[in-house]
Amino acid sequence: MTMILTNIIVMQATPRSILFVCLGNICRSPAAENTLRHLATERGCADQLVIDSAGTINYHKGKGPDPRMCETLETRGIPTQGSARQVIASDFEKFDLILAADHSNLDDLRRHPGAKGHELKIQLICDYCTDSSAQEVPDPYYGGQEGFEKVADLLEDACRGILDNVVLTDQ
Ligand code: 4NP
Repeated sequence: MTMILTNIIVMQATPRSILFVCLGNICRSPAAENTLRHLATERGCADQLVIDSAGTINYHKGKGPDPRMCETLETRGIPTQGSARQVIASDFEKFDLILAADHSNLDDLRRHPGAKGHELKIQLICDYCTDSSAQEVPDPYYGGQEGFEKVADLLEDACRGILDNVVLTDQ
């Protein structure tokens, strides 16, 4: 299957497993994981997907998502779960799509020892946005509430794009 979606080309079987990646795995990528799971549950297709998240650093290993991120999502009716972990080499084999929050995360993923041979599946989360023209999900960690709202808005846009244009194309 070959499909063209804005500026990316996906050439593989329809993705069924998706890993979201940010720096710490406590704000953006767990928010993406929980948003996609929530939207997929609403559409009745959550059981067809493997959805996970990870960080490029190990600093927050074992921690749950940041309380500010949880509160922002929970206000939107999205429950949060998860425990931070670092990306490992086997993730590149296991997942069909590996989506980075920003260009720095993308560069780190491309340089990871496990990435060789899996370059096409490493993309940006915002490649799947259809409303926003943003290229990155900005790091909200050192900022205020508006940063967390922006993250939640972008992730909802991207996750709808994933479900609309990629995950369900052959069903
Ligand atoms: P995340 O946000 O990458 O979206 O999880 C951050 C979390 C922690 C740090 C930076 C960004 N930190 O510097 O510890």
